[in-house]
Amino acid sequence: MEVIIQPNQEAAASLVAHIVARELRANPTLVLGLATGKTMECVYRHLVRLHQTEKLDFSLCRTFNLDEYVGLFPSDPNSYRYYMNHHLFRHVNIDPRNTYLPNGLATDLDEECRHYEATIKRFGGIDLQVLGIGKAGHIGFNEPLSALRSRTRVKALTPTTLKQNAAPFGSEENMPRRAITMGVGTILECRRCVLLATGDSKATVISKAVEGPITSMISATALQLHARATVIVDEEAAASLAEKDYYRWIFANEPEWEEYR
Ligand code: F6R
Repeated sequence: MEVIIQPNQEAAASLVAHIVARELRANPTLVLGLATGKTMECVYRHLVRLHQTEKLDFSLCRTFNLDEYVGLFPSDPNSYRYYMNHHLFRHVNIDPRNTYLPNGLATDLDEECRHYEATIKRFGGIDLQVLGIGKAGHIGFNEPLSALRSRTRVKALTPTTLKQNAAPFGSEENMPRRAITMGVGTILECRRCVLLATGDSKATVISKAVEGPITSMISATALQLHARATVIVDEEAAASLAEKDYYRWIFANEPEWEEYR
């Protein structure tokens, strides 16, 4: 695992966007895993700008989102399909048929989960997965106690997640109680993972995810098992990390990061 500390949210999100852009330029048929949430909005703004100003080309890539609420129509402004259209897809030259999210309206949700996994496999697996982290440590909606080998499935959302995501629904009572999410095992099979966390509300969970023991109580700790995982944080989210100087030293000296310094 690598940890990169950026001065602020804007710089951290810009770095994630530039990593995506570099991978996409190197491989136009990239299979890109995407996340939603407040943190990612800034990344998508940067990607849209790169498309507009540098002609970053999405025409041949495919995307797979981590998760979707159960029971929301794509036209519902709180659905993740709506979020992705609104923040990214309709601003870039991606073919909508190449954008995949789990179908939270499927009559057979278990079959939908198996189908989602099979579709990811059919396109050769995910090359680069972008991740956020919830306050309770989830990646995707892999809530505490998610098996580290779990696959795409339906998960009940925890009270912490309901609280974290309630605002756009008006209240927790109006929120779906369940979501389809890629599993921790599914995420660990992605060839590269980049997790972005910004703001002081993520400081405690980031220190646990990066420096704590691997535990199903905090699914982000599973990234410690991944051969190519990068955690990008701003100074606020880095505040509780014990080994900040070491991470800064690695970033300053690792040739791979030369063009981003
Ligand atoms: C959503 C997802 C979640 C979010 C996490 C952080 O697709 O994968 O794990 O990344 O809940 O959300 P924000 O950025 O809103 O704090």
